[in-house]
Order: sequence, then structure tokens, then C-alpha cells
Amino acid sequence: MQTAAGSTISAELRQRLAEAKRVLVLTGAGVSAESGVPTFRGGGNSAVWKGLPFDVISSGAMLERNLPAVWEWFDYRRGVLQALKPNAAHETIARWQDRFPELTVVTQNVDGLHQLAGSRNVVELHGSIWRARCLVCRLVHEIPREGARPEACRDCGNAVRPDVVLFGEMLPAGAFEFAAQRAADCELCLVIGTSGLVYPAAGLPEIAKSAGAFVCEINPEPTPLSDLCDEAIQGKAGEVLPEL
Ligand code: APR
Repeated sequence: MQTAAGSTISAELRQRLAEAKRVLVLTGAGVSAESGVPTFRGGGNSAVWKGLPFDVISSGAMLERNLPAVWEWFDYRRGVLQALKPNAAHETIARWQDRFPELTVVTQNVDGLHQLAGSRNVVELHGSIWRARCLVCRLVHEIPREGARPEACRDCGNAVRPDVVLFGEMLPAGAFEFAAQRAADCELCLVIGTSGLVYPAAGLPEIAKSAGAFVCEINPEPTPLSDLCDEAIQGKAGEVLPEL
């Protein structure tokens, strides 16, 4: 079947969607693209900030070398995000909470747009741009959508850092393990708007596939995960998801 935007959705996927009880959704930057959030990769480009590739400025090594520069990059990104709203893809995924008996939303995004659209219990593999964490006592501080971020830990007064996973750092304890267990247990896995290049997140569709799930990718471009998928829908998340 053709969507209004011209993508093809198979009869098999329609049936799987109608019957699935346990569904895992893995999202990446592409799900937020139509909200106006720039992706890191895709379209032949890769993000750069003040001459630094994003994986240099967003790295654990940079945090140790120059915490203010890392904050400047994340302050800039929060500033961009402040005015942006969830799009039809986030809204559709939020509605799926009522459609599937067990829906697990796993995101690599730090933008908080799934939650703003109404998704609950989102597994944030890479943390959130809307939180800061003390470098010493690890106390987590919420950052208001409008307003200043904390300059120091309110408990011990030490420096805080963005509560996001930077290149070269470990994922939050338990988050990937939980997602991997849900991937191994799901019947349908939808891989939406991710380049599939960053592990361990990109390993989740492989786990789902080897455990027997039907895996479907939604992305305007092919990715290294496309071949593994049972179906790859070439299209924009905000146009394809409402049609599913
Ligand atoms: N709908 C669906 N997918 C889209 C759309 C759209 N409207 N627009 C772009 N895309 C796709 C691109 O084709 C690309 O494959 O989204 C993907 C974005 O890829 P990345 O920018 O690499 O984002 P992601 O996969 O989330 O990156 C993983 O890398 O930089 C780190 O920590 C960061 O979490 C991020 C991780």
C-alpha cells in the first residue's frame, strides 16, 4: 500500500501491527528532524560546532579538557530546542501506548521530545540535555525548559556536567540491559530515524531479529541496518508513522 507521501507499506507489516502485543521502538535523531532538530549525520553531511566535529566536542575527552566548551555546545543545543515542538512521529509513538499492550520506546535522543509528546517510561540510552549531573556526588539536577541551568551542584557545590552520554563514555547503568531484554522479547521492532552507526544502541535491532521479531526500518536513506530488516520503508518518520 502507498502512503500519501509515496512510501510503500506491506500487507505483512499491517498484519504484524494489528497482531503485535510486544513492540519495541528504537529512535534516533531522524525522528526529531521534522521538528527542526538537526541530525548529526545523514544527507551526506556531518554536524560541526565551531570547527569541531560533533563527536570531538561531544566527547568524554573534551569534557576532561574543557568543560566550559562542552557546556557552551549543550547550552546552544538547548537554546535551539527550547522553541521546538514534537512532530507527528513523536505524537504517533505516544499514541501507540494505548494501541499495543507492551510498548517500549528506546531513544538515542537527548532532546526530551518523546516525553513532551506524552510518551512515558522512555528509555533514554544517551541521557537528557534537560539534566545536569554533579561531577563529584553525581546528584542529578533538572534543567528548566526556560531558565538557567545550575552552575554548580546544589548539594556539594562542585561542578556539574550535562547528564548525557558522550563519545567514549559508558551508557547509564541498566538502561541498555533493560532495552536489550525488551528487544529479545518483542514481536515487532521499529527502527526509526537512526543511522545505525552508534553501538550499543544499533545492536538492539540485531537482538530483536535474532530472537525472531519482525524488524522494520523507517528512514529516508538506507543504513547499515537496512539489510538486516524484514522491511525498510524509505520515507520521513512524520509522514510514514501516522499511516501505520
Ligand atoms: N525521518 C526519519 N529519519 C530521518 C529523517 C526523517 N524525517 N531525517 C533524517 N533521517 C535519518 C537520516 O537518514 C539518518 O539515517 O535519521 C538518521 C540520523 O542519523 P544520526 O544523525 O547519525 O542520528 P543517530 O542515529 O540518532 O545518532 C546516534 O550518535 O552523535 C551521536 O549520541 C548521538 O544519539 C546520537 C548517536
